[in-house]
Amino acid sequence: MRRPIIAGNWKLHKTINEAVTLVNSIIDEVNKTDVEVVVCCPYTCLSEVKKALAGSKLKLGAQNLFWEDTGAFTGEVSAEMLKEIGVEYVIIGHSERRQYFHETDETVNKKVKKALEKGLNPILCVGETLEEREADKTFNVVKNQTLLALKDVSPLDASKIVIAYEPVWAIGTGKTASSQDANTVISYIREVLKEIYNDDISEEIRIQYGGSVKPSNATEIMQESDIDGALVGGASLEAHQFLGIVNF
Ligand code: G3P
Repeated sequence: MRRPIIAGNWKLHKTINEAVTLVNSIIDEVNKTDVEVVVCCPYTCLSEVKKALAGSKLKLGAQNLFWEDTGAFTGEVSAEMLKEIGVEYVIIGHSERRQYFHETDETVNKKVKKALEKGLNPILCVGETLEEREADKTFNVVKNQTLLALKDVSPLDASKIVIAYEPVWAIGTGKTASSQDANTVISYIREVLKEIYNDDISEEIRIQYGGSVKPSNATEIMQESDIDGALVGGASLEAHQFLGIVNF
């Protein structure tokens, strides 16, 4: 049985004060659920959010990291720096980073390996653009992204990864993949994991859906056989909406 995991990706939102207020308003409900709940905050909020969630079941995530440990890399943040704060999860390869910050499958792979080396759990994002979907390339795209991101990742390490299937056309658009469509792609990703590793690892790895998840569609999405949670953008910024998804 895979434990569902709901993660909020706050993207470029929330000052420290706003972040702490939001965390304080969700903690009690999060403590009552068996679902694993993570908030992936901007770097600037991580330390204060860590203090705010101390002693609760809520977990801390970051939205990116760099693959080198130290050096002349202005503006970057290392895995060890995140670990020191108490970060447990880190989003890697989000489509916005691929699109706006030139993230490639190669850099995604370096980041996945560095995160695992330092004891952080990657939330690895894969997903096709609208153009790719319309050209019937969805399966090819998610297969390649998955294979390349997991290159040289051992089976034991792979089991610590959460994959988020986020069709790019569904992000922030209000358009959601139908839960059946999302499940079909996610089942396919599980097949790919079987090819790379084995049945056990493939069954163990949690795969989330992301893209316009809201309280109104969360139940349907979460009922699908291969979907183990959600990576939530916009709806994670408001306590009642995020809790509506956590309590799907
Ligand atoms: O990582 C979450 C994401 O990209 C989906 O965003 O706003 O469509 O829930 P949103």
